[in-house]
Parts: sequence; structure tokens; C-alpha cells
Amino acid sequence: MRNVIIAGNWKMYKDMTATAELIEGLKSRLTSLPPRVTVVICPPFTSLAIAGTLLKGSPLALGAQNMSQHDEGAFTGEISWNMIRSAGCEYVILGHSERRQYFGEKDELINTKAKKAIASMLKPILCVGETLAEREQGITDRIITAQVRGVLSGLTRAEMSSVVIAYEPVWAIGTGKTATPAQAQEVHQMIRKLVSQIYDWPLAEQTVIQYGGSVKPDNAAELFSQNDIDGALVGGACLKADSFAAIVNAAK
Ligand code: PGA
Repeated sequence: MRNVIIAGNWKMYKDMTATAELIEGLKSRLTSLPPRVTVVICPPFTSLAIAGTLLKGSPLALGAQNMSQHDEGAFTGEISWNMIRSAGCEYVILGHSERRQYFGEKDELINTKAKKAIASMLKPILCVGETLAEREQGITDRIITAQVRGVLSGLTRAEMSSVVIAYEPVWAIGTGKTATPAQAQEVHQMIRKLVSQIYDWPLAEQTVIQYGGSVKPDNAAELFSQNDIDGALVGGACLKADSFAAIVNAAK
């Protein structure tokens, strides 16, 4: 059976006090996890260090929401792989649709960051997804194929084994509109087939492909029951301990 990863993308929410509160709430609700289930929380940069300290000894892993493609230097406002690792991160979300939409990130940059993350022993969660206009034009497959090929470009098989892919239809993010389990499954299956064409089936079979976009406690179980959906990247519903824990429990 494939591994499942549930990640909480806190986006630009929670100061340090609220971070500590939410982590305590999660730790008390998620005291143990089955071996095939990984839970990652991704608070804002300013909360990573406190989160790293509070998560020590818990089954929850830590991730960042972005990182620079550079090692260090005069890059005002940027955060490096070494900084997030030293705060305790094992994961980093790259190429989220909000980074693409508001900060102009393109597949090529996301690919460069992915290579840097892997070389730095971080597991990248690489996000892809079509907009509503693209879905309505019937070009979802073409868009997703280009994004997946773009973000994975030049990654070796060994590098690919630490990659997590998150399929997040842009029209389902923060809108309350979820792709139906069947709609999501169709794209996930397509992505897995594409990974098998770029690499091979054994690797594609073990690649974790998360779904993201208005995942909530009441739709999580049905999404997770699909063959090619291996967990979730959760936004809104990860900001409360009860709802995030309920989503994790749906994957157990
Ligand atoms: P949402 O966000 O769950 O609030 O739709 C998901 C995401 O942006 O990762």
C-alpha cells in the first residue's frame, strides 16, 4: 500500500502565540499515526522555529511554504533551505498556485527550487493545477502535463523518489468547491501515468500524489478512498485542530 501524506498549509495565518495553541491542540489529538501516514504542518516562516521546538517528540513533521533557490546572499526578504532545515523542516511546499498567481513563479523556477530542496535533504511538495478557464476549455490534461513535466524536468529517478506531487485545481482552492472524487481521481491517474512515462511504473506506483482544494472533514474520506489519491494538502480546514485532526483520521 502506498504512503499517505496529509499536509496543512497554514498560508499567512497564525502568529507565534496562535501557532503554539494550534500545535498543542494537534499534538493532543494526534498522539500516534499508523506507519504509512505522515502528517506535515506548514506554518509561516516566523513560526517555524517555535513549531520545530514544540513538535519535538511528536509524530508530526514540519514543512515550510516556500524557499529561495539560492543558498545565501544579498536576497532581501528571502529564506534559504538551510534556514528552514535548521528550524526543523523536512518538507517544503513549492509552486503553490498562490505563488504562481501572485508572485509570478513559473515551472522553471519551481523546478530549480525543487532540485535545491532535494539536494538539501528536504522533500518538496510540488503543486500543479488548472484554472477554471482551463478546465472549461477542456485543456486540463494539457496544462497538468506541461506543469508536471516542467517541475520535474531533469530530476533523476533517485531525486524523484523524495518528491510529493500535490494536485490542486485552482478553482477549488479556498472556494468551497471541491473537485468530485471522480474528477480528482481522473487527474491523479493521469499524473501517475505521466510519472511512469517519465520514469517507470514502480516509481510511479510509490509516488505520493496529494489532492488539495477545499478538503474538509466531510469530504476527506471519499477523496482518500480513490485509488490514486494519497492524502491531501489542506488550507482552510487545517487552521483548527479539530477539523485538521478529523481529516487525518479519515486517512488512517
Ligand atoms: P483550501 O486550500 O483547502 O483552503 O482550499 C488548499 C491549498 O491552497 O493548499
